[in-house]
Order: sequence, then structure tokens, then C-alpha cells
Amino acid sequence: MKTIAVANQKGGCGKTTTAINVSAALAATGRRILLIDLDPQSHASFGLRASNLPADKSIYHVLTSNPEKRRSLDSCIAKVSHNFDIVPSTIQLSTVEQEFKGKEDAFSELYRILSFSPLPYDYIVIDCPPSLGFLTFNALRAADQVIIPVDMSAFTLMGVGKLLGMVELIRTKVGHAPRLNVLATLFDLRTTYSQSVLGEVKAFFGDQMLETIIRLNVSLKRAVSEGVSVIDFDKTSKGARDYTALCYETLRLDGVEEPEKPFVSPPSIQVPERQEGMLSVKKKEDEKSFKLEIREVTFAIESPGGKEIYVAGDFNDWKINDESKLSRVENGCWEKRVSLPHGRYRYKFVVDGEWTVDLKNLAREINSFGSFDSVMEV
Ligand SMILES: Nc1ncnc2c1ncn2[C@@H]1O[C@H](COP(=O)(O)OP(=O)(O)OP(=O)(O)O)[C@@H](O)[C@H]1O
Ligand SMILES: [Mg+2]
Repeated sequence: MKTIAVANQKGGCGKTTTAINVSAALAATGRRILLIDLDPQSHASFGLRASNLPADKSIYHVLTSNPEKRRSLDSCIAKVSHNFDIVPSTIQLSTVEQEFKGKEDAFSELYRILSFSPLPYDYIVIDCPPSLGFLTFNALRAADQVIIPVDMSAFTLMGVGKLLGMVELIRTKVGHAPRLNVLATLFDLRTTYSQSVLGEVKAFFGDQMLETIIRLNVSLKRAVSEGVSVIDFDKTSKGARDYTALCYETLRLDGVEEPEKPFVSPPSIQVPERQEGMLSVKKKEDEKSFKLEIREVTFAIESPGGKEIYVAGDFNDWKINDESKLSRVENGCWEKRVSLPHGRYRYKFVVDGEWTVDLKNLAREINSFGSFDSVMEV
């Protein structure tokens, strides 16, 4: 039995989508799979219609230290489909960390439970929450392999260092070192931007990068809303083909020499081919020359009275979140440093909720709302 944790503290990078669909693809090869939903948000449970099970049968009840509530792992397993079972989650799971506060070796709780439960599975897949607390720590300790989904957006590598630090901490504490594999997700074939980010991520992770790339595919979203895996939703979709490729790559990495024939044709694209004007992500030399094209850009604005300032642009999908927040420096100035590949970008600052152009940059273009965006060449 092998345990795979799908982890990254970054929200929305494709953890749950990966956990559900790599589980379904492995189950379709005849292997028996148990998916553990270790996220109090319970997205995997909702995404597989496993959230309407008895309220006292969830991963919370397996982990809790309260003897009146605690249950065995096998009593909390629900069937998803042939060869594919789940231990669902509930919001109560968010309270379990508190129960273990101060307890020596609390991060080994799940590992101990899995080691002592005789389970009839080939793979256990754990969907982690977007944080690096007690739950993710437990998943990493229990895992033989950690898949780190990395989506193709700016700032995507911020925070991954902390996850790697956590794995290192486990290695020094208990001598356990799971295999780390990085998976490129939400890859948009139509833009060179995804190619560029992928080049940066590959240059950072080298051999730890999986060959399989998960492309943007609407079937992955639609499958979740239908409550099924993408394999059951549409096995000919790009999403099904990519996750089938991930399943076969996982088997190969686990030493299965010739995994059985896929039930769908193999994906036409695993690694993007070199094209005119695009950067290859295949060869080390290209990665090196590519890396030189990444520039650190400092977005700066003067706002002595500002309380919260963000920079949003087409390099970060115009998202306003912690990753796009500027820090106050000195003399009323605010800054955010971002590594960006060569290209032309539109952006704006958001100062206490008000969108504003960069007053120090006179390059501007009219946008679809009829106002102006600042424009920058890197
Ligand atoms: N390859 C893809 N193509 C299109 N949509 C995708 C793809 N992967 C994920 N999504 C969608 O992106 C959103 C976020 O994905 P997902 O829930 O898997 O991320 P997550 O890392 O688990 O998020 P969280 O950190 O909140 O747990 C979902 O709406 C999902 O359907
Ligand atoms: Mg999730």
C-alpha cells in the first residue's frame, strides 16, 4: 500500500481536482483506492457526492482524541465507485488541531492510524487543505509520495519553500522522507505565459517535476458540479487524458514497468513542444537561457495614508489576495517585488478598494471598461 499526499498551501492550485482524478484514474486500472479528504472545506467529499453520509462518519471522527466520538478508520469509509472509496470530511475537522495542541508527536497521528489499520487498498490518496498546519503535517508524515500541484500563475512558487521546509523537518525529526513531485496544473496551451511560468517552475524543481502537465479543461469543473470524477464524466476529455497520464506516470515511478494499456488514448501533449516564439521546457540548456529572461520587477506607489494596497494585472489574473499585496516600506511608499518573464503586461493598483493607474508610468491603454490600465514591458 502506498500513500500519496496532494499538498500545497496555495489555494486553488488544483489539489482537490488532482486528488479526485488521479484516484479515479488509478481505480480505473483495477487498483483499489482510498481517498482521504483531509480538508475541513470538504471539497473532495462534495465533488464526489460523499458529503451526505452519516454526520458521525468522517475523518474528524477517525482523528479526534475525544473517546466518545472517536471511530475506527474502516467504519468511516464510503463507496464512491468500483475500486474507489472515500473517507469524507466535515467542517468539524478544523477543530482537531486544537485537541492535539501541545501533544508530543501530534503530527504522526494519521501515520499511526494508517499503519495500524489493515486496509485492502493499493493507494491511499490524501487531499490536503490550503494551509501548513496540523493536518498537512500529518499527511506529509503519512505519505510515501507528495504531489505538489503548481498552477501556472505569477507568485506560484511563493510559499512552496515552507512546504519543503516542513518535509525537511519531518526528515530530521523521524527520518521519513517522502518522494516529492511537482505537477504543473491549470496549464493554458493558448498562451506563452503558461509556458514561461512552467519554465521557471522547471528550472526551480528540476528532476522533481513530473512530465505530465494538467491542461485547463472545463470538463474538470463540470465533473465536480456533477459529483463525479472526470473519468466518469467524460473519459475522452483532455482532463481525463491528463489525469490518466498522471496515473501512469505515478505507476512508472513506483516501479510498474509496463502499466496496462490506458482505457483512453494517451494525451497528445505531456510536455509542450518547442514552437517559434515559445520557450522549450524540455531541455536543461533551454531552462538556463530561459531563466535569464525572468526579471524581478518592483511595483511601487506612494500613498502615505494608504491602509491596504494591491497590484493586479494580467500576470496574476487580476487577483486581489495576499499574494498581490504591497508592503509598506518608508516615506509613505509601498512595494511589491514580482518575478516576471519577458512580456508586456497591463496592471493597476488597488488603494483601499479604489482602482488606480500607476501615476509614475505614463504608458497606458484604454480597457474594456472604458478606463485606463497601466502598461509595462519586461
Ligand atoms: N485543469 C483545470 N482546468 C480547469 N479548471 C480547473 C482545473 N484544475 C482545477 N480547476 C478548477 O479550479 C478550481 C480550484 O481547483 P481545486 O479545488 O482543485 O483547487 P485546490 O488547490 O484544491 O483549492 P483549495 O486550496 O481551496 O483546496 C476549481 O473550481 C476547479 O474545478
Ligand atoms: Mg482543495
